[in-house]
Amino acid sequence: MIITTDILPTEVARAVKEGFAKIPKRLPSWLFYDEAGDKIFQAIMRMPEYYLTPCEYEILQANKDKLYQRFTTDGSAFDLIELGAGDGLKTEILLRHFQSKEAAFRYLPVDVSSTALSSLTHRLADIFPKLAIQPVNKQYNEAIRTLYEEDLNRKVFLFLGANIGNFQVHEAENFVTMIASGMHPDDQLLIGFDLKKDPRLVQAAYDDPHGITRNFNMNLLIRLNRELGAQFQLDQFRHYPYYDPESGMTKSYLVSLRAQDVYIEAFQSAIHFDRWEVIHTEVSQKYDIPMIEKIASVSGLEITDVLYDCKHYFCDVLFKKKNG
Ligand code: AVJ
Repeated sequence: MIITTDILPTEVARAVKEGFAKIPKRLPSWLFYDEAGDKIFQAIMRMPEYYLTPCEYEILQANKDKLYQRFTTDGSAFDLIELGAGDGLKTEILLRHFQSKEAAFRYLPVDVSSTALSSLTHRLADIFPKLAIQPVNKQYNEAIRTLYEEDLNRKVFLFLGANIGNFQVHEAENFVTMIASGMHPDDQLLIGFDLKKDPRLVQAAYDDPHGITRNFNMNLLIRLNRELGAQFQLDQFRHYPYYDPESGMTKSYLVSLRAQDVYIEAFQSAIHFDRWEVIHTEVSQKYDIPMIEKIASVSGLEITDVLYDCKHYFCDVLFKKKNG
């Protein structure tokens, strides 16, 4: 299967131009996931400080049969749509179980990274020769719009791995509202939320001693140098993540270590950075149960299950359309 790229170089240029016009300067977090970024993110998921991945692994392993029961209630065929599928390692637990039960479903992984999507699709086709896979290389909004236009089967959305954390809370509410508005009464939505916990644990997950998260953040500048002909000097910026335990928001920044003008060929102009000026590159929002209940209530959904790992660091929450 060949996966064509729907993320165009012009889209990168437009996003960067828009982001650098903001105060403070911003870069959208989907930009992280080029080929190198995918690899670094996989290394993040293997570091001991990044508790999120093993927690969700545990949850899916312990609840795969419950989820199978929920997803196949009426026995009709369904589309399993995964937003931000990445390397799909966690989802494999569900796919394997559903296949062994001979559930009737198609798997539709959605990802902005064409390379991640292509290796995922090939790997799954090898492991599960009978699985119907239809990869979608688009950003979330675009993908959801297209899927709702087709509107074929019953839908089960997966939005795992705390990917929802990349939105600020109000953006997450809007995003879930958008998904919910197209859902039918028998559709379902499973979201993985990272929970508020010991602030030092959260801080360490984004400020690891190995420098892997630093490389992940810095890779943005490498990508801009390559794709936009920018002239960022990596040693003139520093990775700085900050967790605020009150709001639950982790923000990651690249901080300019001196006043500098960085030429960007694609724009035929230079961007100015003051000394200590920041580029805000990522939000990793942590939740508590009232915040999750609020997402449900504003978007017209109701919670059917809250599934925790044994330490209650993380939860996967199953939603369906609210009755009446
Ligand atoms: C893929 C968005 C869930 O925010 O925890 C990991 C990305 N950034 N370390 C997260 C990330 C820095 C990750 N998500």
